[in-house]
Amino acid sequence: MQIIKDPLEMQQIALAVRAAGKRLGVVPTMGFLHAGHLSLVQLAHERSDVVVLTLFVNPTQFGPKEDLAKYPRDFERDAELCRTAGVDILFAPEAGAMYAPDASSYVSEEKLTRGLCGASRPGHFRGVCTVVAKLFNLCLPHVAVFGAKDAQQLRVIRRMTRDLNFPIEIVAGPTIREPDGLALSSRNVYLSAAERRQALVLKRALDEAARLFKSGERAAAALRAAMEQIITQAPAARIDYIEIVDDDTLEPVPTLTRPTLIALAVFLGKTRLIDNAVL
Ligand code: PAF
Repeated sequence: MQIIKDPLEMQQIALAVRAAGKRLGVVPTMGFLHAGHLSLVQLAHERSDVVVLTLFVNPTQFGPKEDLAKYPRDFERDAELCRTAGVDILFAPEAGAMYAPDASSYVSEEKLTRGLCGASRPGHFRGVCTVVAKLFNLCLPHVAVFGAKDAQQLRVIRRMTRDLNFPIEIVAGPTIREPDGLALSSRNVYLSAAERRQALVLKRALDEAARLFKSGERAAAALRAAMEQIITQAPAARIDYIEIVDDDTLEPVPTLTRPTLIALAVFLGKTRLIDNAVL
């Protein structure tokens, strides 16, 4: 496995891989890898000849009061996991190499980012779109793989890719869960033992919504009330949002008549977790 830190060297390698007629797959991450990321690497392998995993804790997608400084990092462990997973190139640039001190160009998506995490984390998706566009330009992939757990991010990146004509296939990898149902996330390490136990309310709330939907309930308000009731039973839980939105437009729906995304963001203590289901 090659470890590349210099963005322009990454771009030169990508050009050479493409000139050799090989398909390039990229898995963008912020590191502190877990089985969810490794499942994305597996999907990239199935669709390409050369797999690049990018590891970059992107400062522009964190708000001033968010966890950039304490975001978990362990480069050696991540590199070892990448080797074991058969990653060909680990691209791990420094922030100073990715952003010029006077950088002043950004990529914004202006519809799908209005609600959900876009409303609770102003500027977050501008940072995500900007860095993903830069990673696309540096890694020049044919295919890029993102996790379905970040439901809004996935839809925003698909939209940006279409709107800006990146010739890249966006592939979604399913959410990987602990045996008890908690969605894997690098942020799970922040949870105390009690918060970890109580974090199961996210999946329980989604399961309850799915159960009600299966039994014929179509009113968004009824699903939201049932989910709220489950989540508020956990003393450490504070709901950031429960949104029931059209899966394409991410606009709130009163009644479930088309594929609908149920997306949750819940604080367990200071840790904000997200999860979702499509009904
Ligand atoms: O999902 C993430 O880990 C990040 O938002 C991404 C896509 C790597 C951009 O920094």
